[in-house]
Amino acid sequence: MSDTPIVIIDAEMTIAGLPFRPLVDELQSAFSQGCVAPVRHHHNMEKTGEPDATLLLMPAWSNPDDGDQYLGVKLVTVVPGNSVRGMPGLTSTYMLYNAVDGRQLALMDGNVITSRRTVATSALAARFLAREDARSLLVIGAGRVASLIPDAYLAVRPIEKVAIWDINIDNARVLAKALSDRGICAEIVSDLEQAVGRADVISAATLSTKPIIKGDWIKSGTHIDLIGGFTRKMREADDAALALSRAYVDTREALHEAGDLVQPIETGVISENHIQGTLADLAKGLVQGRGSAGEITYFKAVGSGLADLAAAKMVYKNILAADRQRP
Ligand SMILES: NC(=O)c1ccc[n+]([C@@H]2O[C@H](COP(=O)([O-])OP(=O)(O)OC[C@H]3O[C@@H](n4cnc5c(N)ncnc54)[C@H](O)[C@@H]3O)[C@@H](O)[C@H]2O)c1
Repeated sequence: MSDTPIVIIDAEMTIAGLPFRPLVDELQSAFSQGCVAPVRHHHNMEKTGEPDATLLLMPAWSNPDDGDQYLGVKLVTVVPGNSVRGMPGLTSTYMLYNAVDGRQLALMDGNVITSRRTVATSALAARFLAREDARSLLVIGAGRVASLIPDAYLAVRPIEKVAIWDINIDNARVLAKALSDRGICAEIVSDLEQAVGRADVISAATLSTKPIIKGDWIKSGTHIDLIGGFTRKMREADDAALALSRAYVDTREALHEAGDLVQPIETGVISENHIQGTLADLAKGLVQGRGSAGEITYFKAVGSGLADLAAAKMVYKNILAADRQRP
């Protein structure tokens, strides 16, 4: 048995360690600095009487010459059949190590790491891509990830109104009430076409396999942020939405994993060159973000081990700092 104690950080402590504005800043420097993040492992788990499940393993570690030396692995189970069980589709755990000597440091709530780093990654992209005066946000989906989208965007843009649409209107209602109770101006919408046509920013985090957002509906100047689709069969926006946009990805893995990109590339609607760059390219200033107020911008994320590691480090350091301050 190891003589190094592991710090166990529960969901509440993980949330407390990841306030959005500092997290977005942390991610900006992490994407700019980079780390080693091998391609994640996808393992298909066949199920009887329900859709297949997936086990994802997402490792990442610091560059050899970085001052801070950390290694982390996220283990994620994705079980689409959980919707019938009334349970969330994803469960995950994050393990953080010291990369110098391989000592385990902390075990933390991977669900919180995932959901908060995901929406903070989108907010970081919006820093480069959404109009500075973006005030109306349409959230599509109302689950674990989508429910955090408004708070993350409020950290980077002067959002005044949040509209929510979900295939399950009760989910949308619950989220709208929770936001309103906290003083955020939020309402559910039933006419999706109209809501898309009004939004400065549209952010989707669903399990959809068919396009929900249509290019024809989008007004000029809108920023589209697609979080949900993580397989080649999933879609949240149609081909037209991508074709008329200035488009970016979180990492180049998105080009091979996300149906929103894979399908229009396979059918020749766009080529890979249509994608202007990655979040690392934006953070390093290697590519330009939004070019004009009227442009439609598009960001597709599939998630990265880099963002997980940056968030996990931040939680761990914040917990150590809080411990030091305790009398
Ligand atoms: N890009 C990333 O880094 C990243 C990270 C985490 C999760 N995700 C993805 O985000 C999505 C949502 O994850 P979650 O944990 O919030 O799931 P969840 O199960 O908590 O919520 C999903 C929500 O989407 C709604 N929904 C399902 N199908 C829909 C459809 N066809 N149209 C509209 N709404 C629909 C559900 O009613 C529910 O409110 C998943 O696809 C997940 O894989 C992406």
